[in-house]
Amino acid sequence: MGLKPNGNYRNLKDSYLFFRISKQVAAYRAEHPDRPLYRLGIGDVSRPLCGAVIDALHAAADDQASAGSFHGYTPECGIPEFRAAAAGYYARRGVRLDPEEVFVSSGASDELGDILDLFDPSSPALITQPAYPAYVDASVMAGRKTVFLNAGPENSFLPAPPEDTEAELIYLCSPNNPTGAVYSLEGLQAWVDFANRRGAVILFDAAYEAFVEGDLPHSIFETKGAETCAIEICSLSKTAGFTGTRLGYTVIPKALEREGMNLNAMWIRNRTTKTNGISYILQKAGIAVFTDEGLRQIQENIRIYKQNAGVLMDALDSVGIRYWGGKNAPYIWMACPDGMKSWDFFDLLLREIQVIGTPGEGFGACGEGFFRLSSFGDPEETKTAAERLRRLLAERKGDLA
Ligand code: MLT
Repeated sequence: MGLKPNGNYRNLKDSYLFFRISKQVAAYRAEHPDRPLYRLGIGDVSRPLCGAVIDALHAAADDQASAGSFHGYTPECGIPEFRAAAAGYYARRGVRLDPEEVFVSSGASDELGDILDLFDPSSPALITQPAYPAYVDASVMAGRKTVFLNAGPENSFLPAPPEDTEAELIYLCSPNNPTGAVYSLEGLQAWVDFANRRGAVILFDAAYEAFVEGDLPHSIFETKGAETCAIEICSLSKTAGFTGTRLGYTVIPKALEREGMNLNAMWIRNRTTKTNGISYILQKAGIAVFTDEGLRQIQENIRIYKQNAGVLMDALDSVGIRYWGGKNAPYIWMACPDGMKSWDFFDLLLREIQVIGTPGEGFGACGEGFFRLSSFGDPEETKTAAERLRRLLAERKGDLA
């Protein structure tokens, strides 16, 4: 008797990956309060917000102090200036968007779950694994069947579309979390053609696009035909250090329709019902990111994270450990030494050198045997962590020799 809870929660793992890690780290810290910890685990940024953003935050807070410039509710889908600024960011790379195709959000992780409202739960989801665990958990909570497509060294962690799948909702993440792999334009085009052929929709997680170098695509909308099969979820967390500030945006093309229903119009219906907009102050900060000065300043932070990645990769190179990523992404995906299991390696690093990383198994079964290192840490701490890691791995090699 009584209200029935959502029974899909019974199908989830006991706790979310990063919650489990933080509990283990807290327990270690309680036992060893004097030992410094080196955090290369969750992808949380360490650099402060850039000057252009801070100035915009202050100015917007001041606006709220007088009746003449005060703002109450903001438009649910985003203030027009923010939508236009994000569309302008795409235009810099030759992608033309109508600002009304850009929707403000409170961050990519929230949006990846919320967006599932647009799709019938009976449509199975295809998730390339290893994967950001929220894709799986949000689908499970909604009662959606998930099917997995394995990524591994054999396909450079960039699987091609399978011809035989029942899935109609496809999650792609490039640059990839956790592997750091990036699809080429041809690789992405193959997915877009596949989705258009079968009437599937791709949820493209572009949270790490700002780390892409050279000619590799930043957006799925750089391919031909994505406007009829893709939604792109974007975040200012990793691009501009907004992990604690919370702002993102989502692109839903007006041309995206299924069974005569327009997904852009459906999302307007959803947002106008389920939100009262996103903070005026934060959207003003977001607009500052997309100015020339803002983009220049955030690149400086990204350059520092890339230097951190270089330090970590040098350490792994010096001991002959194989890894992927690190160049076009803030994550390095390394093979655990001596065939160790990833949670055992996590324990070893925490216990012996107080370095915190993320076990590959947490990103799905095919992540077993791998381990993720984040380059978002403080540069000095990252150098120390890299040296501790190098020494530990070198000693183990010596042990086995
Ligand atoms: C990660 O470490 O995978 C990300 O920081 C998690 C997130 O963005 O929510």
